Amino acid sequence: MRDIYVIGSMSVDLVTQASRLPKKGETILGESFFMTNGGKGANQAVSAARLGACVHMVGCVGDDRFAEMILSNLKNNNVNVDNVEPITHCASGTAHITLADHDNSIIVVPSANGKVTVELVDKVISEMATDSIILLQNEIPKDVIEHIIEAAYEKGITTIYNPAPFIAMDKGLLSKVSYFTPNETEVKDMFGEGFENVIAEYPKQMIVTLGDKGATYFDDKLINIPSIKAEVVDTTGAGDTFNGALAVALSEDMNLGEALQFANRAASISVGGLGAQGGMPYRKDME
Ligand code: RIB
Repeated sequence: MRDIYVIGSMSVDLVTQASRLPKKGETILGESFFMTNGGKGANQAVSAARLGACVHMVGCVGDDRFAEMILSNLKNNNVNVDNVEPITHCASGTAHITLADHDNSIIVVPSANGKVTVELVDKVISEMATDSIILLQNEIPKDVIEHIIEAAYEKGITTIYNPAPFIAMDKGLLSKVSYFTPNETEVKDMFGEGFENVIAEYPKQMIVTLGDKGATYFDDKLINIPSIKAEVVDTTGAGDTFNGALAVALSEDMNLGEALQFANRAASISVGGLGAQGGMPYRKDME
């Protein structure tokens, strides 16, 4: 089995549940509050590890108590943290989440996640086997993301780029990633138009996640892999579960259609639990 390297963010999610979102300038009473593990990078790493892959996390944490919480959670989920750097005098990343109406809104404060350097990723990429898979997202500095894409391309390493949250990026770089996995909103932000108008330019490379409508890619024609119906408790982290599972499926040499079915199944199970990682399935849950 091929190793998976997740290069990205690790955060603590500070989650408030409320009956609705407050309007601008308004204060409302919430229903509950909890802290849990999150960050798109860490979520994708935990997703892949629970599904049985050999996963390495690469990134930065602060020197606070949140760093201890982040690291012990990754270790408990069998994620290798040898390439996680602690940054002194720095806070760990946090995400400030409101859950309302079966949906979420999130403000991410990068803190240590903004300190990931080209030097750190270069060291890791130079030590990686060429059959490894790199999974990356947009919660670390943009110049580092661009560098990873270039360096992995040069080395012939498979990359899965989840362009979330949206940041403006040179679209020419997309030709150098093996797969990229925007949702519908991110496609509009990236290209200024709906996925139907651009997906044919990226056959078997652009995978558009459509929430409860599954995932779509182009291979001579538009192919939709429908999602599995599920009772929704919390959709936070469903996209991350999908990406982690996609990496696992590709590491096991499933073809793209099979890999997307696997990823859809994992994502649909994940929405049944509270918190980004609360509902993420283990391999036995997939059978
Ligand atoms: O994708 C969900 C994640 O986005 C949350 O866990 C939060 O940390 C934000 O980064």
